[in-house]
Amino acid sequence: MQLAARSFSVVLIALAMGVASGRAAAETVLITGANQGIGLEFAKEYAARGWTVIATHRRTTTPDELAKLAAQYPKLRIERLDVTDAAQIEALGAKLKGVPIDILLSNAGLVRTDPLDKPGGNANQMFGTLDYKLLDDFIHTNVAGPLKIAETFIENVKASRQKKIVAISSAAGSVSVPPFMPNGSPVPDHYWYRISKTALNSAMRLLSAQFKNDGVTVVMFHPGGVQVESFGKTSLPGFVPPEEAIGRMIKTIDGLSIKDSGRFMDNDGKDHPW
Ligand SMILES: NC(=O)c1ccc[n+]([C@@H]2O[C@H](COP(=O)([O-])OP(=O)(O)OC[C@H]3O[C@@H](n4cnc5c(N)ncnc54)[C@H](OP(=O)(O)O)[C@@H]3O)[C@@H](O)[C@H]2O)c1
Repeated sequence: MQLAARSFSVVLIALAMGVASGRAAAETVLITGANQGIGLEFAKEYAARGWTVIATHRRTTTPDELAKLAAQYPKLRIERLDVTDAAQIEALGAKLKGVPIDILLSNAGLVRTDPLDKPGGNANQMFGTLDYKLLDDFIHTNVAGPLKIAETFIENVKASRQKKIVAISSAAGSVSVPPFMPNGSPVPDHYWYRISKTALNSAMRLLSAQFKNDGVTVVMFHPGGVQVESFGKTSLPGFVPPEEAIGRMIKTIDGLSIKDSGRFMDNDGKDHPW
């Protein structure tokens, strides 16, 4: 009897540990732009939890970081996906037909064309020297891409247990507060990036209304200021390492339910101003 009670508590502890570590072996996440920065950190953290991770990238050869992760985690698969390439998105959709996707994570984003530390860089997004042709690239990558991906994989999401679509947006997309400039400059920068993230929020808000009755939760995040390799040598004040911000976001994503659908939030789940 005593032995039975002890075995029962061992099972309970094991179950509790599984829940506490977020272990849910059957779950699947598809991540765009998973080869560096925030996307790579998501791939690492979900893989470490034992999830099936479909880590996508747009490079012509497999990025080393992803190859290393795949060697460490057999449930991580690497797929090529340029989010501006409708044919590539559809081909991956056909390949993954019938595969439930618990979290469809649109992370890939076009932020700037030059590293932050390049003198005079990114003038193409500044008033007075705006490059209007570039606006198409921003809209294709940051708005049409996530929308086309949602259109292509919606049945995979509906077939899953968690049914979540997550878009990595940005505080740069907020229109209700004065534009936030990470370098403290009073001159608005990154016009195309900001405009495209506002449009992304609008697109995701529409999706949330479209699929509420199907139980699909759609949210947008401002991930926080995250110091990533693509900043070059520039270190921005208050920006945190990817582990910190992404760990918080994953916890928030774990706790999301359909009542959250349509929200734009910070990585800790608090509402972010629209
Ligand atoms: N870091 C921050 O503080 C911060 C703040 C707010 C919002 N965000 C958002 O967070 C997301 C990730 O940014 P990050 O900071 O991690 O920047 P990052 O390190 O520059 O990563 C951007 C990722 O997007 C990929 N990408 C760009 N265009 C693509 C396309 N057409 N198809 C597929 N992948 C594409 C890049 O691929 P390549 O490596 O091939 O270029 C890269 O993997 C973005 O949506 C960004 O707007 C970041």
